[in-house]
Amino acid sequence: MKKETTKPKTPKKKAKAEEAPKARLKVHLREGMTLKEAAETMGFKPKDLVDRLAGHGMALDYNDLVDEALAALMARAVDVDIEFLCYEKEVRSRAESAKADLMPRPPVVTIMGHVDHGKTTLLDAIRSSNLVGKEWGGITQHVGAYRVLFNNRFITFIDTPGHEAFTRLRARGARVTDIVILVVAADDGVMPQTQEAISHARAAKVPIIVAINKVDKPEANVERVKQQLSKEGLLVEDWGGDVISVEVSAKEKKNLDELLEMILLLADVLEIKANPKVEAQGVVLEARLDLKKGPVATVIIQHGILSPGQPFISGLTSGKARALFGENGRPIKRAEPSMPVEVLGFSEVPTAGDLFQVVPDLETARRIVNLRLSSMKKEEPLRPERFTLDELFKKFEESGVKELPLIIKADVQGSVEVLHDILPPLGTDKIKIKIIHSATGTITESDVLLASASNAIIIGYNVKPNAKILELASQENVEIRSYNIIYQLTDDIRRALAGMLEPVRKEVSLGKAEVRRIFQIPRVGTVAGCYVLEGKIPRNAEVRVLRGQEEVYRGRISSLRRVKENVSEVTKGLECGIALEKSKDIQEGDVIVAFVTEITKPA
Ligand code: GTP
Ligand code: MG
Repeated sequence: MKKETTKPKTPKKKAKAEEAPKARLKVHLREGMTLKEAAETMGFKPKDLVDRLAGHGMALDYNDLVDEALAALMARAVDVDIEFLCYEKEVRSRAESAKADLMPRPPVVTIMGHVDHGKTTLLDAIRSSNLVGKEWGGITQHVGAYRVLFNNRFITFIDTPGHEAFTRLRARGARVTDIVILVVAADDGVMPQTQEAISHARAAKVPIIVAINKVDKPEANVERVKQQLSKEGLLVEDWGGDVISVEVSAKEKKNLDELLEMILLLADVLEIKANPKVEAQGVVLEARLDLKKGPVATVIIQHGILSPGQPFISGLTSGKARALFGENGRPIKRAEPSMPVEVLGFSEVPTAGDLFQVVPDLETARRIVNLRLSSMKKEEPLRPERFTLDELFKKFEESGVKELPLIIKADVQGSVEVLHDILPPLGTDKIKIKIIHSATGTITESDVLLASASNAIIIGYNVKPNAKILELASQENVEIRSYNIIYQLTDDIRRALAGMLEPVRKEVSLGKAEVRRIFQIPRVGTVAGCYVLEGKIPRNAEVRVLRGQEEVYRGRISSLRRVKENVSEVTKGLECGIALEKSKDIQEGDVIVAFVTEITKPA
C-alpha cells in the first residue's frame, strides 16, 4: 500500500533548530509516459533521474516508457511516493475530480430476472418496437443497448439474457449499470434466477427497482411476490423498506410510465454524472467481426464525447473511429455519455468489458498497446491456472487441493440424477467430488463463468457446447469434457482421482558402505575412507548415515573419489573416499546408505 505523506511532528520549541522532516513527494505516473516526462512530474532533471536509476543498476533512456513494473522500480530508487495509473484510470480520475465539469447523464439500466418473466417484452414495450418477434425462439440472443426518451430525458437500457452479460462485464472489472430493474412475474413469483439476479446486483452494489410484471394475469399475486422478496432481503416500500416496486404489465403496456418515472427519480437521487470535457471513455459491451465492416464493437460512453476520426485504445487493441452508428443503425457525429454507439475502426475485435479510451493520436495508441503487449510477455502466466482432468495430479501436488468441483449438464433429468448418484461415490476420503451445479440442457455461458469462478470442470453428458461457449471456455481456461457413455466418464474420473491421490514416496536402497577411516583434507574437509559392502554408491544418490540403528545424517554426496580420481560410482568390494554435503560429524564404524526416492501413484 502507498505510504501517506509523512506528517511533520507537533512543533516544539527546542525542535526548531532541527530540520523539520520533509513531506514525501507524492506523484501519479501515467502508463506510457516517457522517462523524461516522469522526471518532470517528479520534479527531477531527466538526467538526474537517469543517473539515480543507473546507480540502482537500471540502464534507462529518456525515451523509455513507464509501465507498472518500471514505476515500481523507480519508487524504490527515488525518494518519492509513486502511484502508477493505467491510461484509462488516469483519464477517469481526472474526469471525476473536476467537479465543476460534471454534468448529469442519463441512467444506464439493466433488466434482469427469471426466464420468461417478461424482460424482453418489457423492454420491447418500453421501446414500442418489436424486438421479441425477431428473436430466435423468443430468447434474447445478444446484448444490445438502446435509449428511450421520456419526459425529455434519456434512459439507456441494456438488454441482457439473464445476468450473464452483466456478470461477464463485471468479471472484467467493468461497471456499466447504474440501476437494475428486477422483473418478477406476478403469477410465478421469485424463482432461482430471480435470486441469482439479486445476488449479482448486490455484489455489484447496484440499486434495484422491482418491476412486478404480468399483473394482467388472473393468477397474478402481487402480495405473494412482495412477501417472497422480503425473504430475499428486498423490502419494498409498503413492506417497510425502501426498495421501489412498480406493478406493470408489459403485455398490456400498463404502468410503464410510472416505471420510467421511478428510474429517473432514482437517477436524480443517485446523482448520476459524467464529465463531457475529457477524452471520451467508455466500456465495450459487445464486439464481433462483421464480414463487411470488420471488427465492430458496441461501446457505452461514460465520459467525454466521441466523434468520428478519433484514435483510441481498448485493452490490447487500438484503432481510429472510422464511423459511429447510433442504436437505430444510423450514422452519428457524436456520442455523449450514456449513449450506446457502434464503433468501426478497431484493428482487432476488442474484448467485451474492456475500457474504450480516446487518445491524442495514433502514435500514442500504438505506443500504449505495444507497451502493454511487451509487459504482458514479461509477466508470463496471463491466464489464471485452472484444473484440467489430465493435470489434476500435478496441480494437486502443487496446491494441495483435495476437492474436485464439477458442473454437470446433461440431456435429460434422468441422466442428471444418475450422475448425481454415481459420481460422488467415486471420491475417496482424501479427495471429494463436489457437484457445484447441475442441470439439464446445453452448456451455457453462465456455466463457464461459474466454472471459472470456482475452478470447476464442466461435464457434458449427451450435450455438446457450441463454438461460442468453447471459445469462452478457452478464454477462461475452463475445461469442458463431453461424454455419451457413462463408463468412459467414470473411468476418466477414477483415473484422474488416482493421479490426484497423494503419491507414495518410497526409498529404494542402492548400496551400503562402511566408514573405516576419517581424513581431514584441505579445501575438501572431512572425507570418509569407506569400503562398499553391498550394491553401489552412485555420486548423485541421496545418502543416510547410520550409527548403529540411529540415523545421524541425511543428504547428498559432495565428492566421491577412488584412488584420487573423481568417479560417478563405486561398486561392492571396492574402497573409496566419500565427502558429504554439510557434514562434519562422521565417525569410523558409521554406515553410509545410498538410495533413491521413488514417487509412485497409487493404482
Ligand atoms: P428470456 O429472454 O427467455 O429469459 O425471457 P424474458 O424474460 O425476456 O421473457 P419474454 O419477454 O420473452 O416473455 C415471456 C412470455 O411472457 C412471453 O410469452 C410474453 O408474451 C409473456 N409476457 C411477458 N410480459 C407479460 C405480461 O405483462 N402479461 C402477460 N400476460 N404475459 C406476458
Ligand atoms: Mg428475453
